[in-house]
Amino acid sequence: MFSRTVTRTALRRAPRPVALAARGRPTGLFLRPLSDTAARNNKQDDPTNDPNLAATNKAPDGASGEHEGQFARTDESVQIEYPPDSEMPSQPVVQGRGGMHFKRTLASFSLENKVSMVTGGARGLGLVMAQGLVASGSHLAIVDLNKAEAEEQAEKIIEQFRKENPGLEQMPSVTAHYADVSNPDSVSTALSEVLAKHRQIDNLVTSAGFTENFDAINYPFDRMQKLWGVNVDGTYLFATGVAKHLMERKAPGSIVMIGSMSGSIVNVPQPQAPYNAAKAAVRHLAASLAVEWAVHGIRVNCISPGYMLTALTRKILDENPQLREQWTSLIPVGKMGTPEDLMGAVTFLLSDASKYVTGADLRVDGGYTLT
Ligand SMILES: NC(=O)c1ccc[n+]([C@@H]2O[C@H](COP(=O)([O-])OP(=O)(O)OC[C@H]3O[C@@H](n4cnc5c(N)ncnc54)[C@H](O)[C@@H]3O)[C@@H](O)[C@H]2O)c1
Repeated sequence: MFSRTVTRTALRRAPRPVALAARGRPTGLFLRPLSDTAARNNKQDDPTNDPNLAATNKAPDGASGEHEGQFARTDESVQIEYPPDSEMPSQPVVQGRGGMHFKRTLASFSLENKVSMVTGGARGLGLVMAQGLVASGSHLAIVDLNKAEAEEQAEKIIEQFRKENPGLEQMPSVTAHYADVSNPDSVSTALSEVLAKHRQIDNLVTSAGFTENFDAINYPFDRMQKLWGVNVDGTYLFATGVAKHLMERKAPGSIVMIGSMSGSIVNVPQPQAPYNAAKAAVRHLAASLAVEWAVHGIRVNCISPGYMLTALTRKILDENPQLREQWTSLIPVGKMGTPEDLMGAVTFLLSDASKYVTGADLRVDGGYTLT
């Protein structure tokens, strides 16, 4: 019945000859073509003859000058070099964000008595999110390839907490652990170590990840495998490990996977197809596991950051000011994000404040993906 109604309505709206033909009556007229657009000929495809085509990306250099779309391309000559590990700048501890409650807020945002684990928590976004979790009352296990840095940061986090909460008797437990997230044995050793120290894990944030730039046809295969190994396998291995533990404990839990806006859009101008595909995989992994584990009370969400100013990206952009301008010009709010911009998002998704949120992709990108 529904479809008949639709057909009738469509016929009423159709131009009269079409409607008559559909009812099997002779129209006495030939039907108009669906489009009035004239067929193209090769001459028109030549950008020099057609001003509309001349304004596209296909236009040869100099024919169109500055034109719309000129920045919407990747450029294989752009390769952002990551500094070697020894030259990686370390992230200062975020000051004055936590402490006793000076302002009223919903108690459901608190992570008190929870144990949260953050992979890639020694640096960058992972470190700042980890600080946010401790400021929100959680115990913390930092897991990272760089154990020395993780240990140093764990001490700084405790020191900061003590300063911000003078006189508090019960301090959070903050520990540091080694893992190469792309290696299953290393992941299970790290999980056992964390459980030996904390006895339980309630929340997981997977932030270990990296990007690099090669044009696709020249991407060394072993590096591509490593990239997917860390960004995708690493996320999967930790998520399944923690979910198994939660299921055995019959306890609810929350997992936040750090994806990227690159999982939904294609960044320009730096070419990074495998990274973009890896982050799309992370986003859909979160959605898929959210459905699979909902019955166990385990929520899985994704945070997709836009361009964030970590110590590392700051160094890269200081060396490439033109790139900074190009990136910023594409962000509606007109500036890059800071790692602190993720503190609230991750706390929300791990806490009871988001009890009915699962499988979501929370974009923290200053509106980048909207345009
Ligand atoms: N910085 C940004 O602008 C941005 C934007 C979107 C998404 N992201 C994503 O956020 C996450 C964190 O990025 P970041 O900018 O903080 O990077 P970062 O390089 O500053 O920090 C990454 C951390 O992960 C660790 N790590 C790397 N490989 C590892 C491995 N195999 N095993 C364990 N730990 C490993 C590193 O030692 C480091 O401490 C990544 O997944 C990244 O793709 C970053």
